[in-house]
Amino acid sequence: MPTNKMLWETIYGSRFKNILMQKPLLEKNLIDFVDSLRSLGLLKKITSFLSIGAGAGERELFLAHKLQIPFGYIDPTVELTKIFSQKLREAKLELLLQDEHFGPFETFKTQHRYDLIFALHSWYYIGANERALRNVLSLLTEKGHLYIVMIPSNTFTVTLSKQFGSHASDVNFLFSNGFSVWAKKKGYNHKYQEKEVEFNIQAFLEKKKFTSYGKAWIAYMLRQDWNTISVQKRKQIKDFFLDYQKNGMTRETIGSLIFCKGRR
Ligand SMILES: C[S@@+](CC[C@H](N)C(=O)[O-])C[C@H]1O[C@@H](n2cnc3c(N)ncnc32)[C@H](O)[C@@H]1O
Repeated sequence: MPTNKMLWETIYGSRFKNILMQKPLLEKNLIDFVDSLRSLGLLKKITSFLSIGAGAGERELFLAHKLQIPFGYIDPTVELTKIFSQKLREAKLELLLQDEHFGPFETFKTQHRYDLIFALHSWYYIGANERALRNVLSLLTEKGHLYIVMIPSNTFTVTLSKQFGSHASDVNFLFSNGFSVWAKKKGYNHKYQEKEVEFNIQAFLEKKKFTSYGKAWIAYMLRQDWNTISVQKRKQIKDFFLDYQKNGMTRETIGSLIFCKGRR
């Protein structure tokens, strides 16, 4: 089981960063993100937001720029916080940043309260931790919402990692569906939803060869550098993609939990 430091520096500071370098988020992804928050009713009358595990912070900076409201940023991975700090300066949004924690959520402290707190694919590592859940809910304003997005346990990505991952031991965290069941059992009411999103296989495989983005993505998912993956295993992974795709698209399920401050 990797330590947190290994997890943050190797998996996020190197392999996840590599994915961002290969294919930065498009403006369309950012607009889709804001639209999805809006369609869930999470942007109604909000005056502040906090992001847990914000990574390089592209979505956060886009949202802060669009809404012009104070926000908070939390992430423990040094390499990603560096990118965030640079983009923050470039976007001239320093004055809106009211909390900045370069560390894990578990050590975050603030006097501020937030109308919207979100954790996009980062709560896996915080896990079924009642203290953390109680803490995050205590940071919400009276009408605030907590929005946690993770993948459920039976998706394309998880199957791929289980089948080919060399040490998928950090994948012993909770997935969205398990986390939802756990939270309900503990009495934390929330709305749970799953939706399917499609990816064009061309981003990963072009003319049956892995693209540089595909290689970076697989290295991150399997927790193994691309150049250490054997030729035979690369072929099996390629077949896995080709078998799974339909009309050139692969599908991934995304789970989300929405908690309200006032409802427990
Ligand atoms: C899959 S990345 C997601 C980054 C970003 N939210 C996104 O959707 O692009 C997971 C992020 O969670 C962060 N993370 C890991 N453990 C964490 C913790 N205990 N508290 C806060 N963030 C954490 C990592 O540093 C990484 O940036």
